[in-house]
Amino acid sequence: MAAVTGAGAGLGRAAALALAGAGASVALNDLDELALAETVQAVEEAGGRAVGRVGDVSRKADVTGLVEAAVSAFGGLDVMHANAAISVYRDFETMTEADLDRVLDVDLRGALLCAQAAIAPMRERGGGSIVLMSSVQAFQGLPGCVVYAAAKAGLVAAVRTLSVEVGPLGIRVNAIAPGTIDTPMLHRDLEPMGSAEAAGFLTRVEAANSLGRIGRPEEIAELVVFLASDASSYVTGTCLVADGGFLAVKTI
Ligand SMILES: NC(=O)c1ccc[n+]([C@@H]2O[C@H](COP(=O)([O-])OP(=O)(O)OC[C@H]3O[C@@H](n4cnc5c(N)ncnc54)[C@H](O)[C@@H]3O)[C@@H](O)[C@H]2O)c1
Repeated sequence: MAAVTGAGAGLGRAAALALAGAGASVALNDLDELALAETVQAVEEAGGRAVGRVGDVSRKADVTGLVEAAVSAFGGLDVMHANAAISVYRDFETMTEADLDRVLDVDLRGALLCAQAAIAPMRERGGGSIVLMSSVQAFQGLPGCVVYAAAKAGLVAAVRTLSVEVGPLGIRVNAIAPGTIDTPMLHRDLEPMGSAEAAGFLTRVEAANSLGRIGRPEEIAELVVFLASDASSYVTGTCLVADGGFLAVKTI
């Protein structure tokens, strides 16, 4: 039994399909009702079991509603994948307080609420796996990303400390830090540039990692399945970077 937030698109949809493909029943969340329904349908068409709950991860009631949906539909919760986030690229000095608050609310506070809500049902089952979605932005600076980076770095720190708190309950806590992955978020982030500038930016991003390409959502979903499963039974308190070598390459 797994819960996935932000499952209506991109990495969340890929994770929902991969977890279901690995045999998990999935309780799925998204703000976007239509997108969420499409993912639920895709899981079911692939032979899996899914329930969808529309909600905003920055609202505690929506997060507890998702966990309750998993417990009532499937009998418990083994995996919480807090994936939902927004990226708001702004110059930090002039960024509005509303934008700053929204990024922290969704990306940091929302993920923490998900982790918190997962503990009681996991304790009930004698353990579980919490997987938070960080980013390479937690480790390397990119202009326009100060608040997003702060949120994503906060999750890496939270994973370490929470893993210590809940380890005795058999609950493992880890993060994933993807590099640039081909999702709707990436294309939205590139939109303000115009097509020529965006193409140039993507070419530079591709050149800035060892594999010479950006990633596919399915490549991150495989890591979610790994961290969710017993294959990672001795892995906790860490952040797995999956960035095609982006952090390994020095560009000057
Ligand atoms: N795409 C990348 O290159 C990349 C790189 C590093 C990390 N990430 C992280 O991966 C995760 C998924 O990113 P993505 O690229 O798939 O994004 P996306 O924008 O393509 O999809 C995100 C989904 O989350 C939903 N969502 C947004 N706010 C929400 C909220 N408050 N409550 C519930 N659902 C909400 C959206 O409706 C959407 O369906 C995010 O945590 C993101 O920060 C993405």
